[in-house]
Amino acid sequence: MKFIEDMHLNNKRVIVRCDFNVPIIDGKITDDSKIVKSLKTINYLLEKNCRVVLLSHLGRVKSNEDKNKNTLLPVKESLESLLGTEVTFVTDYPNEDIPKDRKLILLENTRYFDYPEKLESGNDLELAKMWSKLGDVFVYDAFASAHRRHASTSGLASLLPTCIGYLVKQELENLNHVKEPNEPFMVIMGGAKVDDKLPLIKNLLPRCENLLLGGGIANSFLKAKDINVGSSLATTDENILLDLKCLIELYKDKIVLPIDFKDKNTGEIKTLEELVNDDIIYDIGPKTATKYGNILKNAGTVFMNGTLGMSEEAGFENGTKKVFEYLTNVPTVVIGGGDTVAAVNNLGFTDKFILSSGGGASLEYIAYQTLPVLEDIK
Ligand code: 3PG
Repeated sequence: MKFIEDMHLNNKRVIVRCDFNVPIIDGKITDDSKIVKSLKTINYLLEKNCRVVLLSHLGRVKSNEDKNKNTLLPVKESLESLLGTEVTFVTDYPNEDIPKDRKLILLENTRYFDYPEKLESGNDLELAKMWSKLGDVFVYDAFASAHRRHASTSGLASLLPTCIGYLVKQELENLNHVKEPNEPFMVIMGGAKVDDKLPLIKNLLPRCENLLLGGGIANSFLKAKDINVGSSLATTDENILLDLKCLIELYKDKIVLPIDFKDKNTGEIKTLEELVNDDIIYDIGPKTATKYGNILKNAGTVFMNGTLGMSEEAGFENGTKKVFEYLTNVPTVVIGGGDTVAAVNNLGFTDKFILSSGGGASLEYIAYQTLPVLEDIK
């Protein structure tokens, strides 16, 4: 795999695939770390007098409303203020001409080409060819998308001379800490849905000492154990529940589940035995945090993906915050994923851990030691 510094790039037209899939609430970016991490590559190319065309996805696009909701306009504004230079935002390529004299261009969300037909996510070669006309070289710098073979990732890599940028190189170096972890290696997993993550969980369980769970994932495991989770988010897929039941039996000493929680409706802290059907588990409770802290005391390396509750909502961040506090005493901690990194930054732990911009991508890299898009970059 070639690195940006190995290429002859002076005065070239360069397409850069970034991952600007940042959290946005009411049009405001709530955590810009993915954008900040992309600046080194962009500045390097501007210094080489390249014409730079930036591509990124944002969210999922399955309807026209999703298009309005997932515009990259806030990213253009953020880039302009971070770089101190004008960014030409092209909202309707190829119908809209790109002015030839512009040095830095951002195209609208690549996933606009996922509706009405899934061209971007379907890795449509014609779409990739259309974008490829904008550049002589492709710089792949979207670590967080490297688990997705899409037209703007693998498709473009198959058409143009390709290298990785500074962000991807740094991410791979960071994640090597977890590839060969100091034992005991522990994993903390939270976030909403278990379904996508099940194959990764299966792969990680034999390799880790403990898997500590929170969020909707933990609820699904509790449900599989026939523990009532009331109205909380949990999978309804019977096959997945059966799979989780088997995992709990097979790895009963490794999988660690919450014992208490904070209810969304009343804000009350309750044990799982006290849960009633209207309750919604929205954070782990203090007993769970202490239990997790005692286990984490022994860890050599921890990888964490997903928060343990709805940490972005005031009053439901304490479980995640407490666990971050315990993690400050662990020798090596790598934290991956947009929401989790946002929680690290917003709760004041920015400099304490190794942060990865990839959620799904970092999990897959740790589980399989490679990523599909990186495999496609020769
Ligand atoms: C991420 O934030 O993890 C990446 O941008 C991937 O997003 P996706 O799951 O929508 O492909």
